[in-house]
Amino acid sequence: MNYSRVAGTGSYLPEKIVTNADLEKILDTSDQWIRERTGICERRVARADETSSDMAEVAGRRAMEAAATDPQEIGLIVVGTTTPDLVFPSTACLLQARLGLPDCGAMDVNAACSGFLYALSIADKYIRCGDAKKALVIGVDKLTAMIDWNDRGTAVLFGDGAGAVVLEASDEAGILSTHIHAAGRHSGLLGVDVGVSTGFKAEPGGGVRMKMKGNEVFKVAVRTLGRIVDETLEHNQMEQSDLDWLIPHQANYRIITATARKLGMTMDQVVVTVDKHGNTSAGSVPLALDAAARSGKIKRGEILLLEAFGGGFTWASALIKY
Ligand code: UT7
Repeated sequence: MNYSRVAGTGSYLPEKIVTNADLEKILDTSDQWIRERTGICERRVARADETSSDMAEVAGRRAMEAAATDPQEIGLIVVGTTTPDLVFPSTACLLQARLGLPDCGAMDVNAACSGFLYALSIADKYIRCGDAKKALVIGVDKLTAMIDWNDRGTAVLFGDGAGAVVLEASDEAGILSTHIHAAGRHSGLLGVDVGVSTGFKAEPGGGVRMKMKGNEVFKVAVRTLGRIVDETLEHNQMEQSDLDWLIPHQANYRIITATARKLGMTMDQVVVTVDKHGNTSAGSVPLALDAAARSGKIKRGEILLLEAFGGGFTWASALIKY
């Protein structure tokens, strides 16, 4: 058993829907601007008392149910998140206890919007080398907890949610390859400049706020995602025409269409959830994967290209035979 495969997927979205019309009431923005520039129509916002582990727990349970996996079979849990419940214990440790997993390895990975694909790459390697038979991989974020609701440049973009997969050892290739990258020299373009060892310096009015130079991030994202999809196909000696589906990070419809164009794919080969979810950061790719799996859009045996780009900068991809 030298490979891992996706045995089941799950996801969770908070109940509260915030539409563009709702944002028009509190910001100098318009439904038309948001739709045209981002493709977003609405997003979900978690309750104040709803944490990342609350959302991830539901997504994780749904993935284990879909994979017909008993929690005791899980040999590793990896959680991609930038919004952990606590500084420590990690969200993965909190979830391990809440989901009734055995005393397996449990870790969080902070790679912003690429967090799920980073987590997937780690779990895939643990399974490939034989150290785990089944792994629970989760991407979750509650970025709305760090949004400046007076900043129209970021407030309209983000939403909350979680997605999960169970990976299991397999004789046949499921995950064909994963690729992860980062370029810390761009750290000033997107981030939250508050932390533990810097002294919890709060923003005026309290709390922490995400800051982004959106247009500069946009340009680097389009270029970088173009490079990583090439790298992924070349590594697997595949052609664009071998791909059945693109399951991209859901940050901006224009970035998604640029990547699809580069791959010569039509938009009916692309899983799009950004209209309903907004950018859910580490939750984005597994939420889209689960939506596509549950709706019957993607079928077993099809080739899926997953990609993400986020703060750090980080970027990542996975090529999957579903
Ligand atoms: O997932 C992590 C990675 N993040 C991303 O991938 C996000 C990447 N960036 C983007 O998606 C886009 O850059 C944005 C959607 C954030 C912005 O779109 P843009 O086409 O790059 O717009 P811009 O920042 O160049 O701003 C154009 C205009 C500006 O006005 P002026 O200076 O031309 O008068 C902005 O002030 O649009 C204005 N603007 C808005 N107007 C109405 C910016 N935000 C808004 C808004 N409503 N919400």
